[in-house]
Amino acid sequence: TQDQLKAMVAEAAKDEVLKHMAPGGILGVGTGSTANLFIDAIAPHKSHFAGVVSSSQASTERLKKHGFNVLDSNSVESLPMYVDGADEIDPQGHMLKGGGGALTREKIVAHLAKTFVCICDGSKQVAVMGQFPLPVEVIPMATAQVTRELEKLGGTVTLRKIKGTDQVFVTDNQAWILDVAGLKITNPVELESNINQIPGVVCNGLFARRKANVLLIGEANGVRRQT
Ligand code: A5P
Repeated sequence: TQDQLKAMVAEAAKDEVLKHMAPGGILGVGTGSTANLFIDAIAPHKSHFAGVVSSSQASTERLKKHGFNVLDSNSVESLPMYVDGADEIDPQGHMLKGGGGALTREKIVAHLAKTFVCICDGSKQVAVMGQFPLPVEVIPMATAQVTRELEKLGGTVTLRKIKGTDQVFVTDNQAWILDVAGLKITNPVELESNINQIPGVVCNGLFARRKANVLLIGEANGVRRQT
């Protein structure tokens, strides 16, 4: 099942991190169901790390429960590694993220890291990204205006609600998320920059300028490592 594949890549990521990070280093940790399994996998090895920097309140809580020393991202200048999942990844290693709503903090922590290790199951690999709606975090007062601009790009825009309710989903940064469906993302580098130019946009879920360096993909016959 997909869950088994996620558990498998989480294990592989644990090995990757223990192998490539000297003891006493600080690790960047992502958000989502795959990242959660990774957190659980490294928990027995927490003494290997001086601390961790987290990409969301949800991951921070989980890390603290395991007894990790969670550091403020302002207190570190760089991280050797960042491990996170993705919602889509193209053949060049460009990623679409933010299904869990943590895109902005994920991009901030990823930017601190020398090596981005992307962990996902094979279903996340696509030829062209955009099948998964692209999350765009916005300042609430700019929502209508940003929606119009995103529609000009050819997308169908939906304000994210908390699943199963009519309540607006509020991010860790007290902002909102617009999910943009129907884009064919053939030039992710350009689209990432263009969306960031719209006033009121905090961040968008394309990780094209900062791609994955190591890909661990869970497939039926094992974990494939791609660099
Ligand atoms: C969180 O905001 C996202 O970027 C996640 O990294 C992404 O949604 C992957 O999540 P799963 O591991 O749950 O598929």
